[in-house]
Order: sequence, then C-alpha cells, then structure tokens
Amino acid sequence: MPKGSVLVVDDDESAREYVTALVEALGYDVSAAASAEAAMPELGRSPPEVVLLDLVLPRMSGLELLDWIRRNAPGVGVVVLSTVGEIKTVVEAMSRGASNYLTKPFREAELELAIRGATEKERLREEVRVLRHRLDHGEATDMVSSDERMLRVRDIASQVADSDAPVLILGETGVGKEVVARLIHGLSDRRDRALVKVNCAALPHDLLESELFGYEKGAFSGAVRDKPGKFELANRGSILLDEIGEMSPHLQAKLLHVLQDGEFSRLGASRPTRTDARVLATTNRPLEQAVASGLFREDLYFRLNVVRLEVPPLRERRADIPLLVRAFEARHQRPGTPRTLPPELTSAFLAHDWPGNVRELENAVRRYMILPDLGAALEELGRSPRTEAAAARGAAPGVELSLKALAAKVAEEAERKTIQRVLAETRWNRRQAARQLKISYKTLLNKLKRWRVEESGPVPPADGPETRAKRPV
Ligand SMILES: Nc1ncnc2c1ncn2[C@@H]1O[C@H](COP(=O)(O)OP(=O)(O)OP(=O)(O)O)[C@@H](O)[C@H]1O
Ligand SMILES: [Mg+2]
Repeated sequence: MPKGSVLVVDDDESAREYVTALVEALGYDVSAAASAEAAMPELGRSPPEVVLLDLVLPRMSGLELLDWIRRNAPGVGVVVLSTVGEIKTVVEAMSRGASNYLTKPFREAELELAIRGATEKERLREEVRVLRHRLDHGEATDMVSSDERMLRVRDIASQVADSDAPVLILGETGVGKEVVARLIHGLSDRRDRALVKVNCAALPHDLLESELFGYEKGAFSGAVRDKPGKFELANRGSILLDEIGEMSPHLQAKLLHVLQDGEFSRLGASRPTRTDARVLATTNRPLEQAVASGLFREDLYFRLNVVRLEVPPLRERRADIPLLVRAFEARHQRPGTPRTLPPELTSAFLAHDWPGNVRELENAVRRYMILPDLGAALEELGRSPRTEAAAARGAAPGVELSLKALAAKVAEEAERKTIQRVLAETRWNRRQAARQLKISYKTLLNKLKRWRVEESGPVPPADGPETRAKRPV
C-alpha cells in the first residue's frame, strides 16, 4: 500500500528525477510534471495528497500555480521547494497558503517530514472546515420520531448511507427532508467531508449552472478567474440538491452526466472535471407529474429514484408532536430561564394541522420560549390557514379537548392507519392481517365495524379527509 500520492513539479530535469526517485523510495505513489501548465490537468484528473512545487518555473510561476491549487483543489498539501536566497518568495508562498517548505539541497528524512507535515496540516484544515460547516448549519442531525413510517425512513437511510447511490427525499415543506439528508451523510463514510447544499429553485438557470459546475476564467464577461462549482467542493462528500424538480432541462442533462460518469464540464472548459460527490435530492412536489408533462427527464428521474424516501407530513403523525415539542424546548432553551410549554398549548398543538409541518412547530415552540404568553401563542396558531379548515370539518379547536382525550384520539388514528396498511398489503385477507397484527380475527372485525372501514376504503371519518386510506392495489 502506498503511503499516499505526491506530484513533483520542477522544470529542471535532473532535480525532478532526483526528487521523484526519493519520494518513490519513501513509499509514495509519485508522478511528475515539468511545468505549471502540465501540472494543472494532472491535478484536475486525480488530485494528489501533496504537491512538491519548485517556485521557479518558466511562463506560469510556482506562486501562480499555488494560487490555482488553492482555488481549485483546496484540500491538496503544497510543499514549496526553494534554493537559499529565495527566502522572500518562500514567505510569500506560505502567506498564500503553502502548507510547508523545503530548502534545496535537502535530505531524505527532511523530505519525508515535510510531506507528512503537509498532509497533517491539510487534514486539520479540512477538519476545521467541516466543524465550521457543522457549526454554521446547526448540529441538528437528530431525527426525533416514534412514527412507524419515519422509523422506516430512518432504517432505510442507515442501510443506504454507505452506498454511493443517489437518494430522492420527498415531502411537504418543513417536514424534515434536510434532517433525513444530514442523517444519511452523517452515517456515511463521507461524514468527515462536507455536505454541500444547493437550492435549485432559488437561482435563475445561468447562475445555478455556474454555482453547480463552476467556470473557467474568460468563460463569460464577468469570469475574471476560475471558480470551482459545488460539485467539486462536494468531492468525496455529499451534495444536497434542494427542489430538484426546478432544474432546467439543460442542467438536468449535465446532472445526468455526473450521475452516469462522475464527470462534468465547467463553463468554458474544454476538458471534463471528475467528481465523486454523492447526490441527495429533495422535492416537495411529486416528480412523476413533471416527468409526465415533459418538464423532467425520465432517465434522470429513474437514476434519482433508486432510493426513495417519503417523509410524511406532521398532521399524519401527530404522536410525534409532544416528542418534538420536548426536543425543541431543549433546543431553544434560554440560559437562566428554564421553560416548558403549558399543557394547554401542547394540546392545541396536537389538534393543529401544521401546514408548515415541523418547521412551523419548531417556530411556535421557539416563540413561546422567547415570549411565554399562552394567549398570544394560541392566537398565533389560530391565524394559521388550516386550523379553520380543521374546525369546519368538526375537529374541535385543541383547547377544548383534554390532553388525555387527544392522546387517545391520536393513538386510535395511528392504529387505524396501521390496520389499513396491513389490509392493503394482504389484499384484504382479514385473517392473515389479524395474524400479522397479532390481534384476534374478531377484534379486527370489531374495529373495522366501529370505524366503518370497508374494502372500497373507509367511510370518511368526522375528523377529516387526510385519514382516508388509498384503495388497496
Ligand atoms: N424529526 C425531526 N426531529 C427533530 N427536528 C426536526 C425533525 N424534522 C424536522 N426538524 C427540524 O425542523 C426544521 C425543518 O426541517 P428541514 O429543514 O429538514 O425541513 P425540509 O423538509 O428540508 O424543509 P423545506 O421543504 O423548507 O426545505 C429544522 O430546524 C429541523 O431541525
Ligand atoms: Mg430543506
């Protein structure tokens, strides 16, 4: 096993061969380039851990190549090689981001120390980058839930974490799609690298293209220098493409190319760039519709849809509400004023429909932690659009129901859903369903009768159309 890979850049042939032989003898994979121009494609193809860089090169100087490496291959260690008398240039190189330096002539042991020092420094830099990223994006990778469907999502997420297969995460706004994406990334062996997030709906087509794929200097009038795209920054990590359905056909084609061949072209580039970024994509609208109407490429859809995770809306897993309330109380606790939500508020939360899902709930809890005014909190809840719809359907506004009654209602709803799912799975074989549910056949019949659930689907219960199960297929 080689200790790592090293690229030697030196225009002086004898020096280059000498250093190359030394590095090889130390047990590294080594390649060599005689100029900056020859080094760049090499760096683009497969970046080494460390570059040994002679500062005096013809045409493009060592310092210029160093700048290029820092912009385009940020994780690569650079050891600058200089001769006595070049100390000013060495200082300049260190301030521009070189990891280490060596003064010629040097001995084998010094060379090895310099290479190892550079690797270590880049590893630490990367670690700092990751930690900073985690701090910036909150440590909230915990997924709180006791819901069966959510637990299944978590199971699949952990099973597929280590594979490189793309994952498509579906769900309404605020349900926790990003939480699921972070979970996958956090469980994968890419976790020490970045999870780079891009919202495909937030940028116009051209900007999104340069954001994702980068550009080369001169590609268009504003392009004064090379810029790496998010796909390069996510190399060996993951890329989260939010609202994937909003991508234009041109970008869909480029994305398909990345998924198929692991490469793409920067704007204005004549050669492709390789990337090993794991793709996680989210959408809050079913992509099937977009495919049917020709807005989304079918081949891309099939590529993305290999692993498909559906995050159910909060109103379909109300039993999670108290758990989430507790988690958010802890998350938004203010030092010095420990606070929990009054039971009246939690029961109102249980009855609410949460069109904004978990994010809306989190905001409501956070607001109460800052301003503990029950009246204001209930009033705020009343302003949310779906509460009126829920009331019109006969769901009593939460405050009038006791917490206990609500909990029972939630439990019953969950029970009914499970039974309906098992019935659908067994194609309405009631005996088999009862066995699978570990209840007696008679109990099952009684429950079906009480809920008036029939094979054609249940009679809509008084508390709303969302509990209506799909017809078994
Ligand atoms: N199961 C959960 N446990 C703990 N926190 C959660 C859970 N689900 C969502 N959250 C929190 O709710 C907020 C919204 O979640 P997230 O950003 O993942 O939703 P989303 O589906 O990506 O939303 P959008 O559609 O707007 O992109 C975040 O602060 C997240 O931490
Ligand atoms: Mg999101």
